[in-house]
Amino acid sequence: MRVLVTGGLGYIGSHTCVQMIEAGMTPIIVDNLYNSKTTVLARIEKLTGVLPLFYQGDICDRDFLDNVFHLNDIDAVIHFAGLKAVNESVDAPLEYYKNNVHGTLVLVEAMQAASVNTMVFSSSATVYGEPATTPVTEEFPTKAINPYGRSKLMVEECLVDIQKAHPEMSITLLRYFNPVGAHPSGEMGEDPQGIPNNLMPFISQVAVGRREYLSVFGNDYPTVDGTGVRDYIHVLDLADGHLAALNHKGKEAGLHIYNLGTGNGFSVLQMVEAFSKSSGVEVAYQIAPRRPGDIAECWADPGKAKRELHWEATRTIDDMTTDTWRWQSNNPNGYPDA
Ligand code: NAD
Ligand code: UFG
Repeated sequence: MRVLVTGGLGYIGSHTCVQMIEAGMTPIIVDNLYNSKTTVLARIEKLTGVLPLFYQGDICDRDFLDNVFHLNDIDAVIHFAGLKAVNESVDAPLEYYKNNVHGTLVLVEAMQAASVNTMVFSSSATVYGEPATTPVTEEFPTKAINPYGRSKLMVEECLVDIQKAHPEMSITLLRYFNPVGAHPSGEMGEDPQGIPNNLMPFISQVAVGRREYLSVFGNDYPTVDGTGVRDYIHVLDLADGHLAALNHKGKEAGLHIYNLGTGNGFSVLQMVEAFSKSSGVEVAYQIAPRRPGDIAECWADPGKAKRELHWEATRTIDDMTTDTWRWQSNNPNGYPDA
């Protein structure tokens, strides 16, 4: 199967490309390098023996996409490309709606022009807003509370309408919980530019000495120890979820929605402790005020994906922290420049 992978040089996309190649699929990568580097390609080749085809360009550029579809006989699209920082989205909503919403619409137009009917889309648990209870099932009401979340929800709603009008299409919305971890080889991992927004890269940068201490955003939530609780999922489990989506629903016309999470919640302090144990490095932290917009706790009911995609997360918190540490300690400054 030949799959166009937008954003394929990014964190989740690159790990998915490795798993795809291992499974005998052919990823064809499109990325504008906004948040990634071409040196990721060499790591994919090192791990798999295959250097995937890569086209540098923007998903908002219809001519560029038409050319990629024209040059390759593409069976399906996995659509990772987009902007993902919540804080940044508050300051630059236009960029978020342009890249995430408009970019997806241009991509769907190009797919239709090339008669490609299958798409797997990177959505997010952020579309549930503050869930009334946990675990969260796919039937929970959706509500976004920031421009990033709204852009994901708008794309979901657009894709629902588009699929309804084009019943031959197969569109799968994957709502990720909190992706963490790295490839166990230590060759690939998360490489955020600037100060990390997310917990795990922040912890690992403290451990490797790039940052002094972690600010724990709030210890007065109604949770196990007062700190925020999330459903952390190993990036390779998440990657495998995309393969399962393509294999089980990709050929079935319709609109399919799945939570990709483990079904377990861990607090910030539990993650700090797990990371210190795996790395042998004490992670310094200070309690700070709550981060605006954060919710107390959220974890998935991943039962639907298990039943229908025959997929479930198998990697443990120890795998997530150990693999992150191997990546971070081998590559303290992330990927080299091209
Ligand atoms: P990432 O930033 O590492 O990867 C995204 C890739 O897309 C980058 O390589 C970037 O250069 C590229 N890109 C961005 N805009 C583009 C454009 N207009 N044209 C072409 N390429 C473009 O992010 P990630 O963590 O791998 O996330 C992948 C997807 O999953 C995103 O859509 C994100 O919103 C979604 N998601 C991520 C998380 C998370 O916590 N990492 C959680 C839920 C959903
Ligand atoms: N946290 C800290 N200190 C930090 C960073 C985070 O205490 O420096 C805490 C947060 O307050 C929260 C938990 O760690 O309790 C997780 O925070 P992240 O920023 O890692 O993750 P979020 O759950 O806030 O959001 C992430 C992505 C969103 C995505 C969502 C659900 O950033 O894009 O998961 O998938 F939508």
